[in-house]
Amino acid sequence: AGLAAGPVQAQDYPTRNITMIVPFAAGGPTDVIARIVTGHMQQTLGQTIVIENVVGAGGTTASTRASKAAPDGYTLITGHMGTHAASVPLYPKLAYHPSRDFEPVGLVAGTPILILARKDFPPKDLKEFVAYLKANTDKLNEAHAGVGSVSYTSCQLLDSVLKINPTGVPFNGTGPAMNALVGGQVDYMCDQIVNAVPQIKGGTIKAYAVATPERNPSLPDVPTTAEAGLPEYQAQAWNAIFAPKGTPAPIVAKLNAALVKALDDEGVKKRLLDLGSVIPKPEERTPESLKKLVDSEITKWSGVLKPLN
Ligand code: MLT
Repeated sequence: AGLAAGPVQAQDYPTRNITMIVPFAAGGPTDVIARIVTGHMQQTLGQTIVIENVVGAGGTTASTRASKAAPDGYTLITGHMGTHAASVPLYPKLAYHPSRDFEPVGLVAGTPILILARKDFPPKDLKEFVAYLKANTDKLNEAHAGVGSVSYTSCQLLDSVLKINPTGVPFNGTGPAMNALVGGQVDYMCDQIVNAVPQIKGGTIKAYAVATPERNPSLPDVPTTAEAGLPEYQAQAWNAIFAPKGTPAPIVAKLNAALVKALDDEGVKKRLLDLGSVIPKPEERTPESLKKLVDSEITKWSGVLKPLN
């Protein structure tokens, strides 16, 4: 009888609220993306998806918690390139493994990285920014969302290209980091586009470049790093939904179908595109494709990032 309960539960799933853990502060890129897609997914699933922001340690606190949650489809996490790839080389004692301890549900959005600065930061373009950073490294503050976050990792990559070692200022997410940038308490940041578009359009911060091969349609005036003179710097993050390892396949399939439906919804698409995200192609939306992405990203970042200690 105990064994028979599994399939029946999966068939009825979901019968109550689902918790979606967001590993960073409310209002930041992960939170915004998770709210857009879960807002639609909950209509398909017929149950409320409650967002729970669990902050700390570059998203690894939340990911540890999600990895240990009951594998019943009622606790999920929206992770990203940081929590589910870059964290592996950065934290030798990481309490979870992004692929071994999770069932991939599906890719949600690609998020190009932008090089941003406070509005009154002196350099007027990317070439000046690079020269200024090299000349003033010890006086500058780089904001990020904790070791292992996308902003941390993306700026580590920039720092390694420029061969500089600035002071990092950690926040619980780039939502609060962006507030500090707007307020002028920090100098610059490497952030996901969804967090930056409203600020750039509002003229509250400076954007030097988008680190992708093409300009982003949401910010047609922001040059690419190649156009602005730094073609070596290319960076785009991704956000994805994961369930704890052992979550029954029929439940993962239901969640994936709800995600795919959300990504095909015109309203959802428009909101994601207006914020500069890249919507995954149909073949990129399967759990199998996300598993491959996680494994290849762990390999890639393991070649780039060094452990902290
Ligand atoms: C956030 O939601 O605050 C970001 O995804 C943090 C980051 O990884 O940079």
